[in-house]
Amino acid sequence: MTEPQGALPAVLRVPDPERTRRARLAAVGAYLPQRVLTNEELGAMMATSDEWIVARTGIRCRHVAAPEEAASDLAARAAERILERADLPAADVDVLIMATATPDHLLPATAGLVADRIGASRAACFDLGAVCSGFVYGLVQAAALIEAEIAERVLVVSGEVFTRFADFSDRSNSILWGDAGAGALVVAADRTARGLVGLELGTDGSRAGLVGVPAGGSRHALHPGADPSTNGGAEVDTYIRMNGPEIFRFATRTVVESASRVLSACGVAAADLDLVALHQANLRIIEFVGERLGVPRERMLDDVVTHGNTAGASIPLALASAEAAGRLRPGQLILLAGFGAGLSWGTVVVAYEPVAAGAERQR
Ligand code: ACO
Repeated sequence: MTEPQGALPAVLRVPDPERTRRARLAAVGAYLPQRVLTNEELGAMMATSDEWIVARTGIRCRHVAAPEEAASDLAARAAERILERADLPAADVDVLIMATATPDHLLPATAGLVADRIGASRAACFDLGAVCSGFVYGLVQAAALIEAEIAERVLVVSGEVFTRFADFSDRSNSILWGDAGAGALVVAADRTARGLVGLELGTDGSRAGLVGVPAGGSRHALHPGADPSTNGGAEVDTYIRMNGPEIFRFATRTVVESASRVLSACGVAAADLDLVALHQANLRIIEFVGERLGVPRERMLDDVVTHGNTAGASIPLALASAEAAGRLRPGQLILLAGFGAGLSWGTVVVAYEPVAAGAERQR
């Protein structure tokens, strides 16, 4: 295992194995917009090729939201599928967490829009801004709310429309992004459930400038015809900018270190993991991390190939695709690791413990 470099993150935890109240990862689900954008189409738009994209990223195609689709639309469709799988009425959701970096608006939070769409009328709703680590942060938040007896059923969803912020004249990162909605239901359980086995959350804000959208927030607000001196004098740049090679180095090193720490803290061997779902950013990152951790290639989910990088939605999307393909099965122990803008990262080891249809309804 790799030795940790620099300061250890404050949040590295193994939940008390004696705890009686646990949070169970009970259902996953996803929604993909219809339109598929191929590498060949990108090659017609800019100086790139299917050969380069496949060799450097593994990505073959991605889905793109329709012009009228925003983050809440994608997340709501995914949320409906998750609740349908768990046979849980939307009105029984206590908390709805929306992990997104491409919200419908600066305000209000998109979570409430999703709740309204699906009929989760009793849910407390908030957005969570940890970008590509957002789903893992959301899962930890859901488990914390459940184990603290604040909530019984928490929906963690993500809807991302990164292609809307992609500069298709900039080949350096626009070829990566895809759009999707995806998420999971987390429910209270007793000690017969395994729940969350170990976790780590971390952020290196000193390197936040390596990936982001420069304008559109309070640092550089955008108003039609505004005098640049009123928005910090910035160039109006509302596209995603990223130092790809630096993020690549950050991702490979941080994920290997973080996953190694979590596995060793909770006493789980890499060989005991049934599946590993990293944030789906680049197939080369996935294969590198798998090799370093000693996880066989077939246990490393590689959803990025067909869906690109869907940011906060990518991990639950990979899980939903794996379940549809018969690869994610009840009782399996999985490692999830998000990383990206922030620079943030989050790793969890968790059991997949779907509820029997109707079980939650009767509880
Ligand atoms: N098509 C053809 N050539 C390209 C393209 C392209 N789309 N993009 C870059 N190139 C060229 C460059 O110009 C450069 O050419 P040169 O050698 O003549 O100067 C060469 O290819 C190599 O460029 P690099 O940027 O070094 O390519 P790299 O192999 O690093 O791949 C990539 C770029 C795919 C972006 C990679 O760095 C990467 O995946 N980084 C990590 C991204 C990531 O993990 N993001 C997750 C977080 S994102 C978030 O949180 C929102």
